[in-house]
Amino acid sequence: MPPPSLIKQIEPWTRLSQLTYKIPEHGNRFFYSLGGMVVVGFLIMIATGLLLAQVYNPAPELAYQSLQTIQQMSGANYLRALHYWTAQGVIVALLLHLTRVFITGAYQHPRQVTWWIGVALLATMLMGSYFTGTVLKWDEEGLDALAHYKETLLHLGPIGAALTDALPGSPPMNFRIYVSHIALFPLVLIFLLVIHIYLIHTFNLSPTPKDPWANQPEIPESEMKGRFDQHLAHILVYSMLYYGWLAVLAFFVPAPLGGPPVPEHAALKPPWPFLWMYDFENLWGVVAVLFASSILFGLLALVPLIDRKQDRRFSARKPILTLGALLGATLVGLTLHGYIIPAQSHLSHSHGADSHKEAPSHHDQPDAHTDQHKKTGDSHDNPVKPNVKTPSNDTNQHPHEEGADSHAH
Ligand code: HEM
Repeated sequence: MPPPSLIKQIEPWTRLSQLTYKIPEHGNRFFYSLGGMVVVGFLIMIATGLLLAQVYNPAPELAYQSLQTIQQMSGANYLRALHYWTAQGVIVALLLHLTRVFITGAYQHPRQVTWWIGVALLATMLMGSYFTGTVLKWDEEGLDALAHYKETLLHLGPIGAALTDALPGSPPMNFRIYVSHIALFPLVLIFLLVIHIYLIHTFNLSPTPKDPWANQPEIPESEMKGRFDQHLAHILVYSMLYYGWLAVLAFFVPAPLGGPPVPEHAALKPPWPFLWMYDFENLWGVVAVLFASSILFGLLALVPLIDRKQDRRFSARKPILTLGALLGATLVGLTLHGYIIPAQSHLSHSHGADSHKEAPSHHDQPDAHTDQHKKTGDSHDNPVKPNVKTPSNDTNQHPHEEGADSHAH
């Protein structure tokens, strides 16, 4: 926060004194500041993203090359690492925020809509922003993610197909993904954030499960012993420590960049926030991503409908807390399992995600198919290739050979 004298001077033009409204004292605790820390992280993402956009080239045939160039420019490389590590921090803070809200029963009346907007924020951040960011790397992992996206959409019939480059004359996928990443999803997030914050301001923070008024919709006015400007100051301090630590980490650990995309189906694992779905994908193929994520977000949306009581005390909420603990443990277990099992390929369509020209499918490669089944003992239909990582700089192959010539349709 700026010094008090400066605030006084600019008061006639800003009415900043309005930010001193009362909130409960517990709002200053770390776990009640996580939502604000996500907002700060989101702002850092926008700032670093804007700068990165000056050096990143979204043209499919140049995207991977521009990332290799960024890797060689120390400033730009650090910026990219900062963008990447801040994204990890935002996702972790967001998951902790959701957990805090769930455990304290803050989704109960009258905050159900706040919770539902939160679920929409989580879905947009993960399935929208994080996913499209992974694709923009345009390396083997990015192209694998895009191939998954295309195949999932093709399962949705003509409407899904229209969102891919399957229609004649449709723009390359990387352009669409780029626009979604830098404009569409940030705008959706800002829109949802405005509603989320409006609702939080309207209902103020909920009582904690230990408060004597834990069964009241709102905290009594007389018990509001904190101030919002102090809450903001706490958020800033926590954020400086949290993101500052990540900024130091970014200095030593650059953002990952895989090898160039290959025309075959590489066997890759998804980034960690999606690893919990990997077992389902191994069992049922790419379409499982659609079902697993819909079920998870659907379950989250049901929380305020399942626990409809007006009582946040732990003793009154044993069933929902047990269900939540089971779901959380399952997600963590699936993530760890996804981490240790060997990678498999699930794609039946071309890996040339931006290409209208299909790379040889497994039907065209009977030998490779049988060979891979022998190697892995894999029982389903998809060919499985060993994940042979090519060091990103150790290749003469143009990263987009397959996509570059493919737009001449
Ligand atoms: C971009 C993502 C999000 C941002 C920036 C955000 C921001 C915030 C902020 C600043 C608060 C004030 C209190 C606090 O920080 O704990 C808050 C409260 C709240 N958030 Fe979020 N949130 C996000 C996602 C979510 C998610 C995923 C959920 C749940 C599914 C959620 C549900 C709620 C609820 C119910 C409250 C009211 C809490 C109370 O009154 O104690 N939010 N959020």
